[in-house]
Amino acid sequence: MLATTIDVTVNKTEHSKLAGFSLENLPFGRDFTDHMLEADYEGGEWKNAEIKPYQPLLLSPSLAALHYGQAIFEGIKAYKNAEGDAFIFRPYDNFKRFNISAERMAMPQVPEEIFIEGMKQLVALDKAWIPQIPDHSLYIRPFMFSSDEVIGVRPSENYKFLNILSPTGPYYNAPMRIYVEEQYVRAVPGGIGYAKAAGNYGSSMYATAQAKKKGYDQVLWTDAFEHKYVQEIGTMNVIFIIGDKAITPDLGAGTILAGVTRDSALTLLKEAGFTVEERPLSIDEIIDAYKAGVLYEVFGTGTAATITMIKELRYKDFVMNFDTDKWRTAPTIKKWLTDIREGRREDKYGWMVKV
Ligand code: COI
Repeated sequence: MLATTIDVTVNKTEHSKLAGFSLENLPFGRDFTDHMLEADYEGGEWKNAEIKPYQPLLLSPSLAALHYGQAIFEGIKAYKNAEGDAFIFRPYDNFKRFNISAERMAMPQVPEEIFIEGMKQLVALDKAWIPQIPDHSLYIRPFMFSSDEVIGVRPSENYKFLNILSPTGPYYNAPMRIYVEEQYVRAVPGGIGYAKAAGNYGSSMYATAQAKKKGYDQVLWTDAFEHKYVQEIGTMNVIFIIGDKAITPDLGAGTILAGVTRDSALTLLKEAGFTVEERPLSIDEIIDAYKAGVLYEVFGTGTAATITMIKELRYKDFVMNFDTDKWRTAPTIKKWLTDIREGRREDKYGWMVKV
C-alpha cells in the first residue's frame, strides 16, 4: 500500500444522459455512465485525480501505449440490493491484481485512494445507472496506460489511470461451443498470462476468429509446449466437474489469470460439498472422464461472463456434447453468486463493499 494523501476532485455533469436511457436488455460494454475518473502519473507521483463528465481523451499519435501496448485493465461489477443500496463485488481483489499486472508491465503502482476510494466515489455518483434487472449490473473498467509522447522502447515516465462505468447485460447469452486450440497459445511460463495486460486480449483475437469460422464461440487454450494441458476458455477461467471433484488449472506456471470469479466459484463449490482441485488437467484426462460418463459439467468463470456453461467441447475430431438443461452445479453456483451480489444470500465471505 502506498502512503499517499490524494484527494479526488469531483466535477459533476450538468447534462445527465440517464433520462430517456433504458437500463433493460443492454449488450455488454456499449454504453457508459455520466462520469469517469482520470488521474495522471507525472514526475514519480500521482496527481490531478478527478471525477468529471465522461468525455473523449486527446492523445498524441506518438503516445507510447499505442505503439508498445504498455496498458493494463480490470473488470469489476457493482450491484444494488432490494433496498437500492449499491455494492461493489470484491474490489480489493481486483486492486491487488491490478498492481500485480502493473509490476509485470513495468508500470507504477496505483494507490488505494485512486483505485478504491475513487471507484467508490464514482459508483456512488452514478449509482442510478446500476441496473436492477436479471443478468445486468454496472461493469467497472479501471485501466492504465503509458502516456509518454516518445516512440523509444522503454517504460514511460508518464501514465494515465482512468475508470469508466458501463451499465451492462450478459456477456454471453447462451451455453457455448468451444474448440480446443492446439496451434495458437494465450500464454507461456515467464510471459504475461497472469497479468491483465491489454496485449493478452489483442493477441487472442486471431485464434478466436479462426474458431468462429469453424462454427465455435471461443477456444479452450492449451499449454504452449505440448498443447495438452488446458488453460482458459476465451477470456474466462474454466472449471470441470468430474465425479465429485471440481477441477481447474492451477496458477503455478503464471499462465493463468487469477480470476476473482474463479476464486469465488471455487469457494462456493467447496461450500456445496465438492472437493476442489487446482492442478494441471490434461485433455486426455478430460476425454477419459467424458467416455467414462463422469465429466458432468464444464463452465467458464469471469467478471464479464459470470458463469457460462459449455455445451460442446471439440478436440481434434472428438466432440463432447453436454445437455446443459440437466445441469445442477453451474446454475446453482451462478444463483448463489447472484444472490450474494444482490443481497438475497448471506455475504459470509465479506465480498460486498458498500459504496
Ligand atoms: C472481464 O471478465 O472482466 C474481462 O476482463 C473479460 C473481457 C470483457 C475482457
